[in-house]
Amino acid sequence: MSFPIQEVRAQFPALALTDEGKARVYLDNPAGTQVPQMVVDAVSHAFVHSNANLGGFFKTTEAAGQVVLDAHRAMADFLGGSEDEIIIGANMTSLTYHMSRTLGRTFQAGDEIIVTRMDHEGDVSPWLQMAEDFGLVVRWLPFNEETWQIEEEALVGLLNSRTKLLALNYASNLTGSINEVAKLTARAKSVGALVYVDAVQFAPHGLVDVNELGCDFLACSSYKFFGPHLGILWGRRELLLELEAYKCRCSTTQLPEKFETGTPQIELLAGLTTTVDYYDWLGREMGAVGSRRAAIVEAVDRAIAYENVLMARLISGLKALPGVNIHGITNDNRFSDRVPTVSITHDKKTPDEIAKSLSDKNVFVWSGHNYAFEVVRQLGIDEDTGVVRIGAAHYNTLEEIEACLEAVAAAL
Ligand SMILES: Cc1ncc(COP(=O)(O)O)c(C=O)c1O
Repeated sequence: MSFPIQEVRAQFPALALTDEGKARVYLDNPAGTQVPQMVVDAVSHAFVHSNANLGGFFKTTEAAGQVVLDAHRAMADFLGGSEDEIIIGANMTSLTYHMSRTLGRTFQAGDEIIVTRMDHEGDVSPWLQMAEDFGLVVRWLPFNEETWQIEEEALVGLLNSRTKLLALNYASNLTGSINEVAKLTARAKSVGALVYVDAVQFAPHGLVDVNELGCDFLACSSYKFFGPHLGILWGRRELLLELEAYKCRCSTTQLPEKFETGTPQIELLAGLTTTVDYYDWLGREMGAVGSRRAAIVEAVDRAIAYENVLMARLISGLKALPGVNIHGITNDNRFSDRVPTVSITHDKKTPDEIAKSLSDKNVFVWSGHNYAFEVVRQLGIDEDTGVVRIGAAHYNTLEEIEACLEAVAAAL
């Protein structure tokens, strides 16, 4: 069965918008995606039907409690964990700051942590500041500039009995390359370190299974996978139970609420459940039967296969443009090691010039370091200018990729 791209696009009202007759080409997806109508409807519905705080005896508070429970269940299905291991908050960065504060006080001065030169600042700065606050030693793990991944040998060289934490990403938000997280996690765990995985860029383009990875924590953001602006942190139950959360004295010590400070964003949580139900819808359209997880697996598999066609055309088109440098895997027999987030620089035009020129044609892309601050530094790219980042999602079309390539060629 071919990928039902027209049916998929029909779910997303923003894709039909035009400006002075020009269609919008959304290739800014690595920074945030559009949402299906069913998510918009779920958010509106919650504002009307479950707009109350939690824990009371009346109708709306009961409905709000159900919304919160449903969102945790949905994300457990999405990530492969259990509902009480799902912590929902404002965004990945806030959740990581929160967890870094909690973890920091379990470490001793002189303990070591490993952060990478491949990560987004949301998975670097919180750990650097934790290290500063608690007197920890920071070890930096570079990525390999030929494979574009974190290599096991490089990690092994940094591990020792004092290593307490490895924070690494599943996929880079600049180069797009995917790390072999299960293998790297096993290495770090062999010295007893905790592993915190940033799956923000991977989750929109691959199936996450926290149990297969063997990590301790995994964070993602639903606005990158067609949902509302929220962050989600999965943590291993035994660890979450053991950890002392930063929380109000009178709030519960139960999971996951002890890590969910304050009032939840009820209406967005309703949208989050429906985001996962969108995957369920897509999976069933593609013939899946059985559980919601089974439908998610099918949806993700089929979406990746479709996206790979877009990625192949985008990369081959960019490769053909003189003066363009692609910072990431370009060899098509390694496309399974990357997501369709493609960053380029040009030998004459600046990233801002290119992005502005694309915007004139209503092609939306990002320019700059995109918070992949360490990546641009390692690559020797000027931090002030960065790259042009073009990122496809499963709702884009080959025609849009062609329009983007034409616009880039014109900009150069
Ligand atoms: C790889 C990666 N990690 C972390 C983040 C930060 O996510 P949030 O905006 O939810 O804090 C981003 C956002 O772009 C990202 O791409």
